[in-house]
Amino acid sequence: MKNLEIVKNMTKEEVLNLFDEADEYRGKRNNLLKQKTLGMIFKKASTRTRVSFEVAMYQTGGQAIFLSKQASQLGRGEPIKDTARVLSRYCDGIMARVFEHSKIEDLVKYSDVPVINGLSDEYHPCQSLTDYYTIWRKKGLDAKVVFLGDGSDNVCHSLINTATVLGKEIVVSCPDQAKYHPKVKGNYEVIHDPHEAVSEADVVYTDVWVSMGETEEKERDLMDHQVNQEVMSKAKSDAIFMHCLPAHRGKEVTDEVMESSNSVVFDQAENRLHLQKALLLKLMK
Ligand code: CP
Ligand code: NVA
Repeated sequence: MKNLEIVKNMTKEEVLNLFDEADEYRGKRNNLLKQKTLGMIFKKASTRTRVSFEVAMYQTGGQAIFLSKQASQLGRGEPIKDTARVLSRYCDGIMARVFEHSKIEDLVKYSDVPVINGLSDEYHPCQSLTDYYTIWRKKGLDAKVVFLGDGSDNVCHSLINTATVLGKEIVVSCPDQAKYHPKVKGNYEVIHDPHEAVSEADVVYTDVWVSMGETEEKERDLMDHQVNQEVMSKAKSDAIFMHCLPAHRGKEVTDEVMESSNSVVFDQAENRLHLQKALLLKLMK
């Protein structure tokens, strides 16, 4: 494994090995990335991804450099393929959050150092690896996982990829319109009735309805797929609620579900740090 572009490029063994390593390095500090530098390109906003990568580099003895679109030459039109070649000469790894997924492909093509996709319009692999790590720890990998909302969402695509690599299946509950169906191939079943979809679920997952960079109004179409107490009552009584965050209470999830004892969203957010520390060690040590 040289880069993390999409989870589909990983083997099951590589994913399971990351989970083991995340457990091993969990809460520990070391100097395994001493004097190494991660260049971080952010063309979109971030709280969790930026902070968890920066802290992971610090806890392993290295450092991270934050490059926003506004404060770098990317905002003035310098092509990503030039940025990739320059950063490769300074840094030991590059993490990037972009709009078009092709920009991640350009980074991989032109960089001499490992590239990590920190979210593109189509995929969010660091998130879905963390999510399955969280599921593995809390429920085991045979859990029934149901995603509710827009099936063409980047997080949903990466959850499908991860489930597929692990030899598992995921249920997607979305409106009966082609635009809301997942746009990736993999092991998933689409069910349009949210109550039927979550029946016997161990994990109920949702994401924002309108992702960064999108302008479309989707609320009317997606309201039936909101995760509320009624939806949760159709899942197993000990089902966990997951959300990659940030959450919009009253839209894709109610405040009641977010704050309920079934909600593991902050453990899930914490796990970004543990999983990505293992990932950085794998790619940059
Ligand atoms: N879940 C996630 O990637 O959060 P941020 O947008 O805050 O990085
Ligand atoms: N689908 C969301 C995920 C945010 C972490 C977005 O792309 O904005």
